[in-house]
Amino acid sequence: MNRRQFLASASALALLPQQTLAGRDGIVLRAEAVTAQLLPDSDGTTEMLGFNGSMPGPEIRVPRGQRVSIDLENGLDEGTAVHWHGIRLENRMDGVPILTQEIINPGDTKTYSFVPPDAGTYWYHSHYISHEQVARGMVGPLIVEEVTPPDVDHDITAILADWRMEEDGRLTDEFTDMHSVAHAGYMGNFARAFLSQTSVRTGDRIRLRLINTATNRIFPLTINGAQGMVVALDGMPLAEPRALDEVVLAPAQRADLIVDVTSRVSLEMLTRQGPYRLADIEINGTNTDRQEGQILPLTPHDLPAPAEPTQHLTLTMMGGAMGGRHGGDNIWGFNDTSDLQPEPFGSFGRGETVRITMVNDTSFPHGMHLHGHHFYEMADDGSLGDLRDTTLVEAGESRDIICVFDNPGRWMLHCHMLSHAVGGMRTWVNVA
Ligand code: C2O
Ligand code: CU
Repeated sequence: MNRRQFLASASALALLPQQTLAGRDGIVLRAEAVTAQLLPDSDGTTEMLGFNGSMPGPEIRVPRGQRVSIDLENGLDEGTAVHWHGIRLENRMDGVPILTQEIINPGDTKTYSFVPPDAGTYWYHSHYISHEQVARGMVGPLIVEEVTPPDVDHDITAILADWRMEEDGRLTDEFTDMHSVAHAGYMGNFARAFLSQTSVRTGDRIRLRLINTATNRIFPLTINGAQGMVVALDGMPLAEPRALDEVVLAPAQRADLIVDVTSRVSLEMLTRQGPYRLADIEINGTNTDRQEGQILPLTPHDLPAPAEPTQHLTLTMMGGAMGGRHGGDNIWGFNDTSDLQPEPFGSFGRGETVRITMVNDTSFPHGMHLHGHHFYEMADDGSLGDLRDTTLVEAGESRDIICVFDNPGRWMLHCHMLSHAVGGMRTWVNVA
């Protein structure tokens, strides 16, 4: 088998762990080695890393605005740290070794405690040697519930990922293969979506929370058997639901859809070889009670409105294969440096509105993630576009973002193609 090609897509009925961890009494998450069934049942199992015995980890569901406390036990034989991706939390709970915390050593426990300020679809993942620990499975969904959820029959989470596997199910041990790092990153030859529920009725209205937890793969997605709208991106409600045709998710990005089921639902990734099936939702009955009605916006966010920017910075992505020379000492860089430097890329006063032009001067797309904040993508006409925590910048293009830096601390800004991050695309900003 040519392992760069996809394994035949399995009839995909992969369930997320059925145990949900709810906020109230404190949550224990144990990072540990797990055995997963990624391939169809009759094929081999896969030795991975996960949480509480499963990969992906259990879904954590917490109400907006209430403190959640998570004891992270390190049951691995190496260090770890866990990041709560997209949550605008206190800096010391952000889970980033060097910048915000010490590594959690094997056998140790760290308590992460924070108040999620925004309802929406988030996720958690390892932030220590993450190009490897995430590739090996250390991811899970983190759902912050609205006070008034939308009127749907089912709320379904879908964790998307890919893995590079041998035919017997073993992960290939190539997490830092330099060819991948310099190109589009470590890509799997097998992909799927894990769903929290795999059966619905025709006529049901469902909310589908798509989370791209892959280390490097951009998923262009289509959904068959259901019609509806996109209602949120990266956790943040859209002011107006948007028509749903193709949804493109860069690593770490999320999209919430509200769709009406017309027949068996399948989620597919578009590839050059044609559609690749990631997951199916079976039909079990008919819902005749639901009145079809307009899909309404979710409860709006209440982030501060940006002011006139007081600083305008440029972040130029450099390096990689087929890229120009740059002054950094790793494969990739930003503004002629690679990796975390002692000095931040930007220093902002608390509450300052800043404009950043991200220039992609490389031959690959990059999914740029800012910790601790959401920012506006700017449209070409200078108007404010979508609020995101991760923005995809195509090769040779640039994107301006506007951010109100209202969360004090040391925050990472990095490419969420984790091969590129380990290859040097990492910097940070300071908000004081
Ligand atoms: Cu989702 Cu710095 O990470
Ligand atoms: Cu990148």
